[in-house]
Amino acid sequence: MKSTPLKTWTPDERITAVKTIFNTITPHYDLLNRIMSGRRDVAWRKFAVKRIPLNANKILDLATGTGDLAIAIAEGFPNARITGADFVEKMMRVARVKTESRHLSDKIDYVAADATKLPFESGEFDAATIAFGLRNIPDRLAALQEMRRVVKPGGKVITLEMTFPRNLRLRNFFKWYLNHMIPILGGMISGSRDAYRYLPDSIQDFLTPDQLSDLFESVGFKSIKTFPLTFGLTYLHEGIAE
Ligand SMILES: C[S@@+](CC[C@H](N)C(=O)[O-])C[C@H]1O[C@@H](n2cnc3c(N)ncnc32)[C@H](O)[C@@H]1O
Repeated sequence: MKSTPLKTWTPDERITAVKTIFNTITPHYDLLNRIMSGRRDVAWRKFAVKRIPLNANKILDLATGTGDLAIAIAEGFPNARITGADFVEKMMRVARVKTESRHLSDKIDYVAADATKLPFESGEFDAATIAFGLRNIPDRLAALQEMRRVVKPGGKVITLEMTFPRNLRLRNFFKWYLNHMIPILGGMISGSRDAYRYLPDSIQDFLTPDQLSDLFESVGFKSIKTFPLTFGLTYLHEGIAE
């Protein structure tokens, strides 16, 4: 993987790196998420499930990875049909095994797809989610436009992304934790320090919550709302497609 700063990578270099990283860390991905976030990632996804309208019957979980959000949605919406989509097949193989072991295979389909060119009809879903995926996609505007396209008018689009808390002390601690502890922890457990160097860089390189709200607005979402979670370490954004 390139050792130059993330900002200098071309979109194609970044896409190649993202595919390599998620193909490499798949077996350790869930465990490291739990350890690194102190299990907050589970609570953040649960909150995203609560923001999905109760009458949603067809729900897309984009950049579904190992399926944690798709599974949480299926558990919260027993009558809904869920589609998980991701461009790293190896991550979705883990998702399928987990889905099977929770007896949810009849509720969730996993589909190989690039977030910027979704293989779905316009207006096919009642809601679409993406958790910790958007920052890995160089063309975020295209991904949000696709999410908007595939939900029906009135449908909701939800994103979850990590960011930096506003509180200066927390912010400095989080920076130190991200830049020093995460590569060590991630390297020890997954064997890939590079992958866990990319994680802090990708968070630092991502939009601020206000910038992401602006992007939602430029895509044409209405009733945009934001929710800071765990001192603003993660933000949920939602918007309604019209
Ligand atoms: C940090 S993981 C998040 C997985 C899952 N949503 C979660 O909550 O744990 C990011 C996922 O985004 C996927 N991804 C990144 N860029 C993508 C793209 N352009 N199209 C589809 N999936 C993408 C990666 O393959 C990876 O599985």
